[in-house]
Amino acid sequence: MKSIFFTAALAALQASASVIIPRDTKFTDTDILVFALNLELIEVAFYTGGLAKFSQQAFTTAGLPSVYRGRVQQILQHEQTHAATIQGLIGKSPVVRPCKYTFPYTDAASFANLAKTIEGVGTSAYIGAAQFISEKDYLIVADSISTIEARHASWLATELALTPWPGAFDRALTFDEAFTLASNFIVPGSCPSSNPPIAFKANPQLVIQEANVTTGQTIHVSFNITTPQSTPLFAAFLTGVAPNEVFGNFTRMGKGNGTVTVPKGLTGQTYLVLTTTKVQSFTDVGVVAGPAVFFFNFPPNPN
Ligand SMILES: *[C@@H]1O[C@H](CO)[C@@H](O)[C@H](O)[C@H]1NC(C)=O
Ligand SMILES: *[C@@H]1O[C@H](CO)[C@@H](O)[C@H](O)[C@H]1NC(C)=O
Ligand SMILES: *[C@@H]1O[C@H](CO)[C@@H](O)[C@H](O)[C@H]1NC(C)=O
Ligand SMILES: *[C@@H]1O[C@H](CO)[C@@H](O)[C@H](O)[C@H]1NC(C)=O
Repeated sequence: MKSIFFTAALAALQASASVIIPRDTKFTDTDILVFALNLELIEVAFYTGGLAKFSQQAFTTAGLPSVYRGRVQQILQHEQTHAATIQGLIGKSPVVRPCKYTFPYTDAASFANLAKTIEGVGTSAYIGAAQFISEKDYLIVADSISTIEARHASWLATELALTPWPGAFDRALTFDEAFTLASNFIVPGSCPSSNPPIAFKANPQLVIQEANVTTGQTIHVSFNITTPQSTPLFAAFLTGVAPNEVFGNFTRMGKGNGTVTVPKGLTGQTYLVLTTTKVQSFTDVGVVAGPAVFFFNFPPNPN
C-alpha cells in the first residue's frame, strides 16, 4: 500500500514541479525574516483596523456567525505572536517597525473576504520562502507559521461558504510576487526610515476591472509596463494544482490594457501574472506585471 501511495504522490509532485526552480543566493536569512516580519505587520494592522471598525453586530449583519469576531481576535493575537517571534529570530537589530497601511475594505463583508485572501497570500509566501532559508531552526518556525496561516485561510473561506482549499496543493509565491501583492497595502514612503530595506521588488500592478470573476469569464486588465505594445504578452494563471500554470488567451488592446478569458477548471486562490515568456513555474523570469488574485470557488462534489 505504502509504495502505491508514494508512487502516486511522487507522480503528482513531478507534475506540479516540472520546471527546475532557480535558486537566488543574493539574499540572506535576515532578508527573508525581515520580509516575513513586514508581511506579519501588515496582517496585524489589517486585523487591528477591522476589529476597531466592525462591531459584533456589523459581522452578524454581514451574515457571519456569532463566533466570527472572537475568532478574528484570536487570529490577530497569532499574527502579533508571529511578528514578535520573527523579530526575536532577527535579534536586537535591525528592528522592523510598522509602516502606514491602507486596506480596500468598505464593510464587514469585504473585510472578511480580504482576510481570506491575505491569509492565502501569507501561506503561499511562506511556502515560496522555505527553500531559500538556510538555518533549519528558522525553517521550523516558518513552517509552523505557514500551517496556521493556512488554517486561518481555510476557516475564513469556510465562514464565507467557500471551499477551503484549491485541491491537493497550495501555490508557492516568489518573493517578488508576494511583495507585489503586499505593496498594495503599504502607503508609499510611510515606512520608518530606521527599517531595513526589503530585499525584494514589487512588479507593476495588474488591475482587474471586473469584480467576482469566475472561470470562463472574459476580463479586462490594466497595467503600467514599459514593454512596447508589439511585445507578445502571455497571461499565466498560477495555481498549486497541476499543471500549475494555465495560460489564458491574452489580447493586448492598448499599451496598458488587454483582455483575457479565464480558463475553465481553475480552483481556489489563483494568481494572474503577465509574462513575456510562456515558461512560468515559480520564477520571476519574464514577469512584467502582477500578480492579481482571484478565488474560484467550486462545490463539494468530487466530480
Ligand atoms: C461581488 O460579491 C459580493 C459578495 O457576494 C457582493 O456584495 C458584490 O455586490 C458583488 N459585486 C459585483 C460587482 O457583483
Ligand atoms: C498607472 O499609473 C497611473 C499614474 O501613475 C495610475 O493612476 C494608475 O492607477 C496606474 N494603473 C495601474 C493599473 O497600475
Ligand atoms: C484567442 O483569441 C483570439 C482573438 O480574440 C481568437 O481569434 C482565438 O480563437 C483565441 N484562441 C483560443 C484558443 O481561444
Ligand atoms: C486601452 O488602451 C487604449 C490606448 O492605449 C485606450 O484607447 C482604450 O480606451 C483602453 N481601453 C480600456 C478598456 O481601458
